[in-house]
Amino acid sequence: MGGTEQNFVQEAFEENWIAPLGPNVNGFESDIQNFTGVTHAAALSSGTGAIHLALDILGVGPKDLVLVQSFTFCASVNPIKYLGGEPVFIDSESETWNMCPKALQKALSFFKTNGSLDRVKAILPVHLYGMPAKIDEICAIAAEYGIPTVEDAAESIGSTLLGKHTGTFGDFGIYSFNGNKIITTSSGGALVSSSREKIELGRKLATQGRDDAPHYQHSMIGYNYRMSNVCAGIGRGQMEVLNDRITQRRENYIRYQEIFESINNSGYSIAFQEESPKAYSNRWLTAIYMDPERNKGKTREELRLYLEELNIEARPLWKPMHLQPVYEGALYFGTSVCEELFKHGLCLPSGSNLSKEDWIRIEDALWEFFT
Ligand SMILES: Cc1ncc(COP(=O)(O)O)c(C=O)c1O
Repeated sequence: MGGTEQNFVQEAFEENWIAPLGPNVNGFESDIQNFTGVTHAAALSSGTGAIHLALDILGVGPKDLVLVQSFTFCASVNPIKYLGGEPVFIDSESETWNMCPKALQKALSFFKTNGSLDRVKAILPVHLYGMPAKIDEICAIAAEYGIPTVEDAAESIGSTLLGKHTGTFGDFGIYSFNGNKIITTSSGGALVSSSREKIELGRKLATQGRDDAPHYQHSMIGYNYRMSNVCAGIGRGQMEVLNDRITQRRENYIRYQEIFESINNSGYSIAFQEESPKAYSNRWLTAIYMDPERNKGKTREELRLYLEELNIEARPLWKPMHLQPVYEGALYFGTSVCEELFKHGLCLPSGSNLSKEDWIRIEDALWEFFT
């Protein structure tokens, strides 16, 4: 927490706005708009709910297809199934580790050739660990085929490409404010778009699809997805420290970069997600890739277990969705980029509050392991 969150929460209590609407909800939506430059935002109870609403508004239904990045958390994909649709998984490219534009092209031309392009209702890339995907290329391909884009920017609030915020390129963007994100409302999310109508519809669907009438009237099936005014109070305080948090996370990355530069100089080859000159990542998590051929036989899993013994938590990268038992048999386009990332990649401790002592422990452990 940054410090001012309690003031906003206190205000909610004093004004008795303990509901999924109120001044903090409106204020938090404005804060998101002002920070990202998006024109419309709806504060919701989760990022997963935001993806569900985006796909629902785009009309995804039974037997429809959504082309989604395979290398991601399950929440990017499950809402496709909530609506009866089918995910089609797309591989990553090896620079940003996000959706590969070439694999996306291949998938789209496959569906065009077999006459089922009209079943493709959306393209869903993810900005993993905060790193902007090649979203300009992805949106250009999507536009060529006339298919809308939903950007999963759950992990990347504050990241930009060509000076434009992730989440604001597609027809819809979503953010998450879950407890593990760079800023949090304990649990929460947002749906954003440049379309007023779409976000108004999103708010209505998030409020049980209630019509504008003095009594309870419903002409569509909605959900209970609005953010509480208490949680939004936390969000308002958190927005005040978002820039500081990004600076802290980027400093973590620079520190790891320096450590691994020295380790690489002694004959290893450890790589990070690449931030192109046109990108700016919030570096939510710093993750490494250990090429199995170029690290003297040392493996990711040995490193993870070594750190675990020292009570330093590190985790494998996301297991691709096309390898998940629950999505067995789904179509997949690409090669083995995301499979290799999963096999040989590791997320390192990346909190905004790593202390001097923490860093000494991490740095010593890494040096001991590699040398
Ligand atoms: C890539 C990605 N997409 C979607 C989500 C879902 O967000 P939430 O946990 O707010 O539902 C998360 C995080 O949890 C995520 O990391």
